Amino acid sequence: MKASILTKFGPPEVLRTCDVAAPVPKDRDILIRVHATPVGFGDTLIRDFAAVTPAKFNMPGLFWLIGKMTFGFRKPRVSILGSEFAGEVEAVGRRVTRFKKGDAVFGYRGPRMGAYAEFLCMPENGVVSAKPANLTYEQAAAGPYGAIMALGLLRKIRLQPGQSVLVVGASGGIGPAVVQLARHHFGARVAGVCGTARVEYVKSLGADTVIDYTREDFMDRPETYDVVIDILGKSPYSRCRRILKPQGRLVYVSFKTRQILQMLRTSVLGGKKVVCALVSEKQEDLAFAKELMEAGKIRTIVDRVFPLEQAAEAHRYAASGAKKGSVVISITGPAIIS
Ligand SMILES: NC(=O)c1ccc[n+]([C@@H]2O[C@H](COP(=O)([O-])OP(=O)(O)OC[C@H]3O[C@@H](n4cnc5c(N)ncnc54)[C@H](OP(=O)(O)O)[C@@H]3O)[C@@H](O)[C@H]2O)c1
Repeated sequence: MKASILTKFGPPEVLRTCDVAAPVPKDRDILIRVHATPVGFGDTLIRDFAAVTPAKFNMPGLFWLIGKMTFGFRKPRVSILGSEFAGEVEAVGRRVTRFKKGDAVFGYRGPRMGAYAEFLCMPENGVVSAKPANLTYEQAAAGPYGAIMALGLLRKIRLQPGQSVLVVGASGGIGPAVVQLARHHFGARVAGVCGTARVEYVKSLGADTVIDYTREDFMDRPETYDVVIDILGKSPYSRCRRILKPQGRLVYVSFKTRQILQMLRTSVLGGKKVVCALVSEKQEDLAFAKELMEAGKIRTIVDRVFPLEQAAEAHRYAASGAKKGSVVISITGPAIIS
């Protein structure tokens, strides 16, 4: 099968399209013919993972070490990127009951990756679900990661109707789903923070207010919030606490050890709290996300689509700062299992 392969860590050019053996489904696996996969945060991070030091990594040192052991210190241990996908069931293992050949599906593979390829295998009880009927394969492929993370996060912090929430990092992989779910499903008032090029995009997702972080510092503004969700974990609690309401919470989606210590300290002291939220991916959350997508409560916006052979170009465009929505790789051409 055709796949985009990572033979060494580095800039986008390290991605090469070549022929590799297709995976073979086990008894409880489904073989999926991949139609589309987006360029996600994890793909660009892992493509150049040798350059990622503990200081550059957005999570605690132990997570960095686990990441290095999974993806490789100097050479890639995972050679096919792509953690989200949409496609069609090509074949099923002997004991599969939930899916059949021809089903349109979408899903999330997390660190197993492997979607920059014509075929991938998923356990039938993995994070895979019927594709939202109203979305194209490209739109569906761009949905699972953000939707699952946003659902898990907003449930974990028990966001209430009428609460005000500020999403710092509203335009990336997770933020758009957080903005839309907080607004349309949880009934919160939502403000978003993003870069200049994506202000209109975040407004179009339903944010009541959008703050351009290149023009002003949201921590200097007079508004206060019940919840501030910081996707990249860059806002210091010492400054952020002044924009929190008296019982407000600062939720870090990315966090370092010092922020875990702040969480412990603020949980003892009461009042304004720090929460370091870890979200795990669940099949039932993806199935629920599918319903929300079909109901129009989560939309995925595809900015540009690149063929698999131009995966490097897709990575360059994703990193260019120009994108307004998802950058998707389409696995085109006649598929041949070999
Ligand atoms: N806790 C968990 O369970 C969990 C799970 C998965 C991932 N994560 C973490 O989530 C992070 C990736 O999230 P993602 O996929 O949404 O990332 P992403 O696609 O790279 O998006 C980053 C967002 O941050 C914004 N941003 C960049 N610089 C900023 C600044 N100086 N001030 C304010 N906003 C800024 C970007 O805005 P512009 O693009 O408009 O500039 C964009 O909206 C990683 O650190 C990962 O470790 C955590």
